Amino acid sequence: MNVADSEVVAAILSKAGFKVTPDIAEAGLILINTCSIRENAEQRIWSRLRSIKHLKKQRKDLKIGLIGCMAERLKEKVLETDQLVDLVVGPDAYRELPGLVTEAESGHKAVNVLLSREETYADISPVRMDKNGITSFVSIMRGCNNMCAYCVVPYVRGAERSRDPESILSEISILFDSGYREVTLLGQNVDSYNREIDGRETGFPELLEKAAQISPLMRIRFSTSHPKDLSDELLKTISRYNNICKHIHLPAQSGSTRILKLMNREYTREWYMDRIAAIRSIIPDCAVSTDMITGFCTETEDEHKASLSLMEWAGFDFAYMFKYSERPGTRAARKLKDNITDDIKTARLNEMISLQNRLSLKSKKSDIGRIFEVLVEGPSKRSDDHLSGRTSQNKVVVFPGKEKKIGDYVMVKIERCTSATLIGNVI
Ligand code: 5AD
Ligand code: SF4
Repeated sequence: MNVADSEVVAAILSKAGFKVTPDIAEAGLILINTCSIRENAEQRIWSRLRSIKHLKKQRKDLKIGLIGCMAERLKEKVLETDQLVDLVVGPDAYRELPGLVTEAESGHKAVNVLLSREETYADISPVRMDKNGITSFVSIMRGCNNMCAYCVVPYVRGAERSRDPESILSEISILFDSGYREVTLLGQNVDSYNREIDGRETGFPELLEKAAQISPLMRIRFSTSHPKDLSDELLKTISRYNNICKHIHLPAQSGSTRILKLMNREYTREWYMDRIAAIRSIIPDCAVSTDMITGFCTETEDEHKASLSLMEWAGFDFAYMFKYSERPGTRAARKLKDNITDDIKTARLNEMISLQNRLSLKSKKSDIGRIFEVLVEGPSKRSDDHLSGRTSQNKVVVFPGKEKKIGDYVMVKIERCTSATLIGNVI
């Protein structure tokens, strides 16, 4: 999401005469797009600021801005804590950046952290900063209306709003015409995408279908789904189109119904299992990945084991796993005690990671001997005469091949695998 936002920021500033440089030493303006989701994300920003401190000594007119969620969360306080920062700009105020930069240049600290109910940057064509020219992100909505107890997102990115469908579809068409072959539709909760124009509503299944109809050669992915809102109608749409990728990222967060209730996730373990069963029956070859949090307030050993057993049962192909990190101002911070020690959180996380490593390997091993359609994304990192791409299920495949295939679809037979990669040959 921050990559997509940075591309919007680049577009706004380009229009005002700025240019992106790959060389930080050359920059007259440095904007750090920040994340507040966990405390260590914020720690990394403070250390990044320290690491660029010397640049300000070398170049007196250099301006440094902190933008995004951390700017929103800390507001003016950033300026008190860090003398380096000249601008603080929240995620809904990027249109004001050119004026704010001018203000900073005149020697004032510039701040705009107003959240909006409408801003979706719909009319802005992002300046693509991805490297391969084949895959890209397209933001379809902003903000979030779910109040998960642990989560800072609704506070720093504001209320949910959906972008108008015409602007989304035209952005995808333009990407296709310029050679892109895969887009990932982005939102905090894509299943609740809904935009009414002239009394006609467009929901997510319809948007997805229209996106898929732009070209059978354009792959469509999306992230993130919420288990409480994942509908059979959506699953049926996915199953009807070869170019809608067979991969659903469905964060479970916990396998314990009591913890899910404390987290305010609005579903039970059984409901989550029912959604996985629906995926398996409607889209039999669908990969499923998840997010898990360990050591949420009052989580017992048995409840941790319930998370592990859910993961084992679901057989996730991939998972992002995190230790619970208390975020100031959230419902959990206000109402619950962060009473699981860091040692226990770490032990539970490690146990979870080793389980997932086993599940990921099992998922890849089951692909050996099968043939997959792979979109070629670029040269492989390890070797010049190998290419790398992904299957519809989002698994990385490496195989011998030459550059001119980049952007093509090839059929690859999987011969072997490592824990992270499938290895095969074009047939
Ligand atoms: N602590 C740990 N993990 C968190 N996430 C969100 N908030 C927190 C938090 N306070 C995780 C969730 C979410 C993912 C993007 O980040 O698993 O799905
Ligand atoms: Fe955070 Fe929950 Fe919204 Fe996801 S759905 S962004 S976890 S509040």
